[in-house]
Amino acid sequence: MITEQFIPKKLDYLVDTVSYKWQTPSNIALVKYWGKRTPQIPKNVSISFTLNNCHTITSIEFEKSSDNKKVNFELFFEGKKNEAFKPKIAQFFERIKVYCPYVFEYDMIIDSSNSFPHSSGIASSASGLSAIAMCLMSLEKALNSNLSEDFLKKKASFLARLGSGSASRSIEGPLVVWGKHPDVDGSSDLFGVQFPFKVASVFENYQDAILLVDKGEKQVSSTVGHNLMHNHPYAAQRFIQASENLSEISQVLQNGDVDTFINIVESEALTLHAMMLTSNPYFILMKPNTLQIINKIWEFRNNTDSKICFTLDAGANVHVLYPEKEKEIVNQFIENELSKFCQNKQFILDFAGNGAKIL
Ligand code: PMV
Repeated sequence: MITEQFIPKKLDYLVDTVSYKWQTPSNIALVKYWGKRTPQIPKNVSISFTLNNCHTITSIEFEKSSDNKKVNFELFFEGKKNEAFKPKIAQFFERIKVYCPYVFEYDMIIDSSNSFPHSSGIASSASGLSAIAMCLMSLEKALNSNLSEDFLKKKASFLARLGSGSASRSIEGPLVVWGKHPDVDGSSDLFGVQFPFKVASVFENYQDAILLVDKGEKQVSSTVGHNLMHNHPYAAQRFIQASENLSEISQVLQNGDVDTFINIVESEALTLHAMMLTSNPYFILMKPNTLQIINKIWEFRNNTDSKICFTLDAGANVHVLYPEKEKEIVNQFIENELSKFCQNKQFILDFAGNGAKIL
């Protein structure tokens, strides 16, 4: 499937050497994307909080190439030349080359680093690929000054999506919807859009503490997990449920009903893992400490008037979500009661942020 609107019609190659540096965030889904068709088209709509502190910083130096038959790039990760990640980036360039023909015209030196430890179990593909997409869009703007800010963001999200689905939600913030949904005007399967409604004050600067339960390599990649949704016995109902949850959470984010927010968000997390448990082959990404933490969160919520809740990614780590005004008390609770379930007692305090920044 070729999407004409993102193929450049006119480019003036007046620039010989140029460099751009972008900081782009990770994100955490509230309604989860799980299941896709080629080329990275989601089977259901999703919405996420963009994070602030968990981000990637990437610079790309572009220099006019003498060999424009293939894509030439070098990759540095955390200051060192990296060959291991190159095939994934090469595959990304292969997928986007019709939309970014300039990747053949320039040699690229990509230099990338994350604000979070690489093997922390925090997916770096969302922030990593959105950062490359933003650098490419800065170059495209230099080759065609007529492009609007709106188009640049849309295309960056479109490109990032082709690298990793959830990366489409790592351009803007603090809330991004990806996937076509009747309640969200302008929403699309091709790129993420900013949540278009005014959000109740309780959800401003919403806190997310990421508890690092298991920092090892995942046993089952998300690519394999998405594919297992093809013949999944509960898939059809799951995709309907996600759409209904999007309608409901959209209302909740506007009217400030935190109890319903908690109900949807925790149910979405457990449903994601239920899809894994009921795939064939089946698999489990939660660890015993994931469940210990969930039980402790429920206990704390029952015994206090806290609005703390949890969500999970495709892994064992727990994202603890809570309103900004509970920051002090919940951070204490995490330090005193939850950090003992984390590897080396490690957790990262974060909150909903505003998306990509040029540096
Ligand atoms: O972007 P991918 O292909 O790594 O898929 C990520 C899917 C989840 O993180 C589990 C859910 C989501 O919506 O981010």
